[in-house]
Amino acid sequence: MAADITNVLTLEHEILPVLAQRRSPRAYADQPVPADVLHQVFAAASSASSCFGEQPWRFLVGTRAGSAEAYDKILASLAEFNQPWAKAAPVLVVSIAKTHFSHDSNPNAWATHDVGQAVATLAIQGAALGLQIHQMAGFSVDKVRASFGVPEGYAPVAVFTLGYPGDPAGLPDALRDRELAPRVRKPLAEFVFEGGWPQPEGERYDQAPV
Ligand SMILES: Cc1cc2nc3c(=O)[nH]c(=O)nc-3n(C[C@H](O)[C@H](O)[C@H](O)COP(=O)(O)O)c2cc1C
Repeated sequence: MAADITNVLTLEHEILPVLAQRRSPRAYADQPVPADVLHQVFAAASSASSCFGEQPWRFLVGTRAGSAEAYDKILASLAEFNQPWAKAAPVLVVSIAKTHFSHDSNPNAWATHDVGQAVATLAIQGAALGLQIHQMAGFSVDKVRASFGVPEGYAPVAVFTLGYPGDPAGLPDALRDRELAPRVRKPLAEFVFEGGWPQPEGERYDQAPV
């Protein structure tokens, strides 16, 4: 499947094309994701690094074609504002963090960090294969816990759609506008602080009156 080149991100510095092509669509094609392709993207997730090599990520997967009951449960856990567009995707996934380390049972403060890394890696592998994911915080942890019987020690983190992107023309006006709106990012100066934490104007350590 060819790379999706809708609304490619433009930045002040060049990045890998696949990173610029990754985006979070709300329009999906009515096309299932073959099992071997799904396995590839989850294998990519497992390539991520993790604290103590714990690999604290777990993924609950529902596909409309193969595991419709799980798909419907994940869909039902989504917030009302996410359900209308998310149901166009052929695959829904809940990312889950194992909250404690396996080697000593202490709390793993980096578990959600590592789940995020795994999902980011999966998203990039997906984009290279023509797929796109859209992550959502708008879902009910309690509904996921109850409907899947997620045990103690595991915390649902986010839900994401996965599928081949579709034509934004089919979206309601407001969502289509968001889908096609220019994608903007903070300039590097706002989040990269070489040499020290930025001080308020006039109070910078290198500008202090002597
Ligand atoms: C943890 C997380 C939670 C998000 N929650 C939602 C959500 O509930 N609904 C939604 O429409 N988008 C959600 N998003 C998508 C972001 O709004 C989107 O990634 C961001 O606007 C950047 O767009 P891009 O991924 O296309 O570059 C979420 C993204 C992340 C990473």
